Amino acid sequence: MEIDSLRKLYVEELKDIYSAEKQILQALPRMAKKTKNQELRKAFEMHLEQTRMQVERLDRIFEMLGKSPRGKKCKGMEGLIEEGKEMMQEDMEPDVMDAALIASAQKVEHYEIASYGTVRTYANLLGEKDHARILQETLNEEGETDKQLTRLAESQINVEAMVGT
Ligand SMILES: [Fe+2]
Repeated sequence: MEIDSLRKLYVEELKDIYSAEKQILQALPRMAKKTKNQELRKAFEMHLEQTRMQVERLDRIFEMLGKSPRGKKCKGMEGLIEEGKEMMQEDMEPDVMDAALIASAQKVEHYEIASYGTVRTYANLLGEKDHARILQETLNEEGETDKQLTRLAESQINVEAMVGT
């Protein structure tokens, strides 16, 4: 299909982020299982719930557009998640593993922040104010999650154990 308009590109980008969210739904339970840190586990579990709502929001937008969300695989997210999986197989001290899990999760968040920022802007340009508002909601949540992960990295992770000798 030729993408000859911003509207078509908008739909393509929405499909991309839809696929990304679906992949994240699969990855988050694995990450929650991997950490020994209660706070971090809670953060992953909470974000899993949030992600389910974010998928529902996208479903609503696709309904409004009269389009299917399927038909695209987000290769960017596939790569990020694959990298995370490899990392989780490494032999690491629990505190170091937590730091690595946070790093992996924040890369995912930043990908999402870029994607949602883009589609929110397109929605505004296309005069789709309702879409823009819905997408902004998710964008805010992703931003909050990112900040929370930074806080966890700074406070919950046992830095002294990690520094070693
Ligand atoms: Fe998300």
